[in-house]
Amino acid sequence: MKIFNDLADFTTDEIRELLELANRLDAHPEPQALRGKVLALLFLSPSLRTLASFQAAMTRLGGGSFVISPGMSIHGIETRPGIVMDGAAAEHIREAVPVIASYGDAIGIRAFAERKNLEADMAEHDFSALTSLIDTPYINMESAMNHPCQNLADWKTLDDLDIPANGGKFVLSWAYHPKALPLAVPASSLYMAAKRGMDVTVLRPEGFELPEPLMQKARQAAEASGGSVVETDDRAEAMQDAHVIYAKSWSSTLHYGDKLADQKLRTGLEHWCIDEPWFANARDDCRFMHCLPVRRGVVVSEPVLDGPRSVVIHEARNRMLAQMAVLYQMLGSET
Ligand code: CP
Repeated sequence: MKIFNDLADFTTDEIRELLELANRLDAHPEPQALRGKVLALLFLSPSLRTLASFQAAMTRLGGGSFVISPGMSIHGIETRPGIVMDGAAAEHIREAVPVIASYGDAIGIRAFAERKNLEADMAEHDFSALTSLIDTPYINMESAMNHPCQNLADWKTLDDLDIPANGGKFVLSWAYHPKALPLAVPASSLYMAAKRGMDVTVLRPEGFELPEPLMQKARQAAEASGGSVVETDDRAEAMQDAHVIYAKSWSSTLHYGDKLADQKLRTGLEHWCIDEPWFANARDDCRFMHCLPVRRGVVVSEPVLDGPRSVVIHEARNRMLAQMAVLYQMLGSET
């Protein structure tokens, strides 16, 4: 494997193979597997789980890693193309990225969406501009529309919990958040659940529909896997017999890039905070999933987050195991 960018680049069998490898590495550690290998980690956007779980994954496999982010005491980095660098920034991303990549056997890159232009973000213009600068194997640690490491970990969590692939009902629900957030997690989680073969319902208020090309991509995956994808703003209908509610807030797609209009649209939607009454007609054992970080009492009530439905810590630990499998396949073959 040279690139881990999107679950859509892999067959279901290849994903299952990665998940079996993750389980094997958990049960039977291989602390020498990546001895002498180095993973470069470039964070142009903030993180807790991705940062820590990649470092832990490399250490558990016997390799090493280093982190570069603008928050560190590095030179100011210019990202704009074609700029005369007579301002504060001392280094351009065009040199910085290949240099960082050259120190590693692989590089992980995180760069959130700019969220000014939906078409540009859907086309992954910014992330592609970064990866076009390197020929090192790379891992997408979250771009404008993708978060494949989160998706792989979440697939594993669904498997771990014996939530059925075919016949399992997965509700991807918008939740209130004071800020407009990126589409990467909802878009790629939708695809993951559809590819796994689940019956997926996207529950969202008007104005927060996911872009049609993303819905279409998920519908095609569902068609191939025996799953389904529907969309509604009716909570009771969505939650009927649900096995899982996967909560996430995201930007209004109606007013993408327009902070004021987005803010106006989300005002009054504070009741989109997942709470126990939401589960009234779900399965008794319906689980609550979230990629974290999550705002308590805003996105989800404290009793749900701290209660038996919540599997958020399990998901977060699976990040490390899923990434160990990716790293093992990417870097392990030459050891
Ligand atoms: N879920 C996730 O990617 O968490 P971080 O933003 O903390 O890395």
